[in-house]
Amino acid sequence: MCSIPTKMGPLKMPRLLQSNHAGIEEAAARIESGGVVVFPTETVYGLGASTFAVDGLKLIYEIKGRPSDNPLIAHVLDAVEARTLVSGWDMRCSRLAAKFWPGPLTMILHKAIDVPDQATAGLQTIAVRSPMHPVARALLYAVDGPISAPSANRSGHVSPTNTEHVIADFPEQEDLLVLEGGRANFGIESTVLDLTAEKPVIRRPGSITLEALSRVLGAVEVAQGIGQGVSPGTRLIHYAPKIPTMLVPSNRLESFLATLKEPAAVLTLDSARVSAPHIGIQMQTDASAYARMLYSKLREAEISGLTHIVIEEPQGQDGLWFAVLDRLRRAAASVL
Ligand code: TXA
Ligand code: MG
Repeated sequence: MCSIPTKMGPLKMPRLLQSNHAGIEEAAARIESGGVVVFPTETVYGLGASTFAVDGLKLIYEIKGRPSDNPLIAHVLDAVEARTLVSGWDMRCSRLAAKFWPGPLTMILHKAIDVPDQATAGLQTIAVRSPMHPVARALLYAVDGPISAPSANRSGHVSPTNTEHVIADFPEQEDLLVLEGGRANFGIESTVLDLTAEKPVIRRPGSITLEALSRVLGAVEVAQGIGQGVSPGTRLIHYAPKIPTMLVPSNRLESFLATLKEPAAVLTLDSARVSAPHIGIQMQTDASAYARMLYSKLREAEISGLTHIVIEEPQGQDGLWFAVLDRLRRAAASVL
């Protein structure tokens, strides 16, 4: 348990662990005893349990408030470990792993029979990825087995890219251990690639782009709905701030802001275009830099005290911008 003395009495919150030897060992012991730990990855922070600890897996769903039919990603050290969890590993997988692992690519394959149902939400398939963050890897070495983990946010909320975000989402979880790992470098979740059929299908775009995957695999499909601005109400998973968020074409930014009755926090590529009473939050024009800062800026806007978030739609469509746009559309309650 962790407490900070305040005038109101001790403030309870999750306990931060430094990612030194002692911290990694304590986190590993927690996971090996069937518990859960928050750990950094290069994409976003994860809330992990041993893939073979049914109680730990249940705890993940309980803590997040995650719907029980949403499956988890198993994190592994390498292709050798991934192959113990799947059936149907083929040449495509070996080539992808050689090129992109460790890194932000998740592969969906048929699962091996001894993987518990709770690790895949009852599906006969399993998602596997090998993270590159040194703390995630140190934890995987220490645990000596795969770690299943969704992003370490409350279900439906924006994923966490630093430990402050994690603590903000789970202030009441005083038994939760959170391994410190700095700011997540990529900033958006991994690319999820379904390899269960002959034609590979991107189910969630990410930093490993369609173009990069196609260079290794040839034809790759993008799952229906992605990139088409599906209507928010029909979306299965939101990656959304808690206040109304709107995505606005760049050429309509000023005219749209002029119609708003209340001041908005505006994620913009040029804060000179945002005038009072609105507050401009400057975003970077490079796609990787934009992705890296996106969730921090959405959370910053969310707690700014303003009632709305407006996002100026970036112009880029391809490569990493495709993944960024996917997250912006999911975040936005309305897309103009
Ligand atoms: O970058 C990431 O992928 C982060 C870090 C922690 O690794 N994890 C993450 O997990 O974003 P999560 O649970 O928030 O998102 C995993 C996505 C979900 O959309 C889930 O439905 C999908 O992967 N997924 C997992 N297993 C699947 C399966 N067997 N079939 C289809 N989709 C699956
Ligand atoms: Mg998530």
